[in-house]
Amino acid sequence: MNQPRPPRIVVVGSTMMDLVAYADRVPGAGETVVGSSFQVGFGGKGANQAIMARLLGAEVSMVCCVGTDGYGTETLANFADRGIDTTWARRAPGTSGVAPIWVEASGQNRIIILPGANLAMDPEVAVAAVCDGPPPGVVAGQFEVPQSVTAAAFGAARQRGAITVLNPAPAAPLAPALAAAADWLIPNEVELAAVASQDAGGAMPSDGPLTDGLPGDELLRSVAHRAGCRLLVTLGEAGSALVTTSGDVLRIAAPVVDAVDTTGAGDAFVGGFIWALAGGRSETDAVHIATTVAADSVTRPGTQLSFAAPEDYELLLADL
Ligand code: RIB
Repeated sequence: MNQPRPPRIVVVGSTMMDLVAYADRVPGAGETVVGSSFQVGFGGKGANQAIMARLLGAEVSMVCCVGTDGYGTETLANFADRGIDTTWARRAPGTSGVAPIWVEASGQNRIIILPGANLAMDPEVAVAAVCDGPPPGVVAGQFEVPQSVTAAAFGAARQRGAITVLNPAPAAPLAPALAAAADWLIPNEVELAAVASQDAGGAMPSDGPLTDGLPGDELLRSVAHRAGCRLLVTLGEAGSALVTTSGDVLRIAAPVVDAVDTTGAGDAFVGGFIWALAGGRSETDAVHIATTVAADSVTRPGTQLSFAAPEDYELLLADL
């Protein structure tokens, strides 16, 4: 886990309280099924990515907005317990973000988010956070808070020489101002399709959506070209695909594991990737690290609850 430099990261993003129901299968329309267990845990894509980067050893500042309810208080306490800087966390009247989640026996999840206070984030606070202290190595954002906030933060990040990493999740049209300020785009397959069809005016581009069930090289290359930034697509158990600076597509396999809950695996991946990039690792090293921590996370239930302890990551990443 040696890093060429100590990673400093600013995450501009969401927090949610995850309400997770586990069942052998999810109900169909109008149906009730009996579940097997239930778990409440800290979630939200931004928070999950911040926590993973912190568990790996980064100094992390979290820019977020929670509600004035008990979930908001607990969320801020969780960040403090984990050693995450909450100088730029704010509270807004009303409810914090919540996410009811269903997980079936295969580990596959279905998530509804109710963003609540996440939508009250202030772009000026995000800019101030990025401009505070030593320059961050990476500023990361997602789509669970207003894109205008992330775009403002990324603009400031560019001025400070930080790498900007956008996880466009959940799938939504990408605002041009945000696309212009992003160095890296890390979608999953669903989010990639949204970005690709947006580029093509609402239809999948003619260079073909899928090869053997996975996005083909031509599609990946054309999305990267049109987005004007680096593209790294997460593909679940099929690993990930990286479009290199020369336009080649590098496919990185994921280790075979027994998945019990895939919730938060994409966030573990992004958290691992930004930790490695901010620490000065090569992008291929960063993808391998991201793949390893994401695969590990699906072997345990929960979102942040499925992440390992810092000492476990020392062992897991000892050879990387
Ligand atoms: O990516 C998983 C996360 O998505 C969950 O923690 C949930 O809160 C939603 O934000």
